[in-house]
Amino acid sequence: MDYRALVEQYGSPLYVYDFDVIEKNYNSIKNAFKARKSLIAYAVKANSNLSVLKHLAQLGSGADCVSIGEIKRALLAGIPNYKIIFSGVGKRDDELEEALQKDILFINVESEAELMRLEQIAKSLGKVARVSIRVNPNIDPKTHPYISTGLSENKFGIAIEDAKRLYLYIKKSPFLEAVGIHFHIGSQLTELEPIKEASQIVAELLRSLQKIEIDIKFFDVGGGLGIVYKDEKTIEPYDYAQAILASLKGTDVTVICEPGRFIVGNAGVFLTRVLYEKKSGDRRFVIVDGAMNDLLRPSLYNAYHEIEVVGKDEPKSKADVVGPVCESGDFFAKDRLLPLTEHGDILVVKSAGAYGFVMASNYNTRPRPAEVAVQNGKSRLIRERESFEYIIEKEVRFLV
Ligand code: LLP
Repeated sequence: MDYRALVEQYGSPLYVYDFDVIEKNYNSIKNAFKARKSLIAYAVKANSNLSVLKHLAQLGSGADCVSIGEIKRALLAGIPNYKIIFSGVGKRDDELEEALQKDILFINVESEAELMRLEQIAKSLGKVARVSIRVNPNIDPKTHPYISTGLSENKFGIAIEDAKRLYLYIKKSPFLEAVGIHFHIGSQLTELEPIKEASQIVAELLRSLQKIEIDIKFFDVGGGLGIVYKDEKTIEPYDYAQAILASLKGTDVTVICEPGRFIVGNAGVFLTRVLYEKKSGDRRFVIVDGAMNDLLRPSLYNAYHEIEVVGKDEPKSKADVVGPVCESGDFFAKDRLLPLTEHGDILVVKSAGAYGFVMASNYNTRPRPAEVAVQNGKSRLIRERESFEYIIEKEVRFLV
């Protein structure tokens, strides 16, 4: 890919997504589950650009959404309501109401209180809410603590012991219908064993529910499949699917999988231009025009992203790659072996397709970057760079 030409055409900093890679990743996970009925419900939170969603819609993908805003995006992009699910630990009344009105596939419920609320809302609308309970299998997924969700110490899901009682409650309610069972133990998972264990625990609950004629149709295994940022050993989609399918022998459920990062992570890069190099004592800094407000992962999780300098591959010495934001936490890499750079050089920050743009902000009154799609060797703008006027629009009319 000609990154220099892309920066010349669309400016910097810039997000670029390879739609052919998105397609390949979607197909590899879909094919891994081909022994069963399955729905890949792409986790919209990873990258919610409408053109990305439309591309996935055309491939047959569904959507896992965590706000009514994400549901509206998915619908707008052409993902049908019967392929949309609504997850999240704290859904507002108006969000539940709208989700019911839009008649999506089901709502993943994460607490008893939410279930009661949902029942009331369904009743007031004269509707039956299709639900799935997110159970917490209490498994350590062995990932970063901020993105680990399957332990009882985390805020997510309902303990297995309580879930059965709630399914019995649902069975008796005229306004609720149990259609699914859900778990998600964490993100950027690189070990298969915790997934296998969680799947077995939840499949056991599924069987015990089926025995008492609670007819679960969907087994939703969440997302979390990890990708290579540096040199991680990742899980093959086939092995991932096999581990899950093995736990489902003798059942006839449709598997739903909610990958986000796996589909878009390595399909995207973040491009940023070098402004200056600077030495401070014996530390070398490469100062770029992108910052933590554009790509937060290194600052927030100390996440590693591979960095290349376009057209230069002879490493000179270790440097910190930093942005212009007034915080020491504003960095993309620390102590990274890099070639000597000069004003205008382009840095490619890799694996930035997931949780990149979506976590960007306007901190320091910095417009969020433009987004570009590349498909069949052609590029096109899929989100314009924000302008100063756009950033202040919601406040300027209150100026007195
Ligand atoms: N399903 C549920 C219920 C989730 O909570 C998540 C992610 C996913 C699916 C998708 O997970 P994935 O396949 O993308 O790993 N901002 C963090 C990641 C937060 C993930 C939150 N939940 C990061 O930049 O690493």
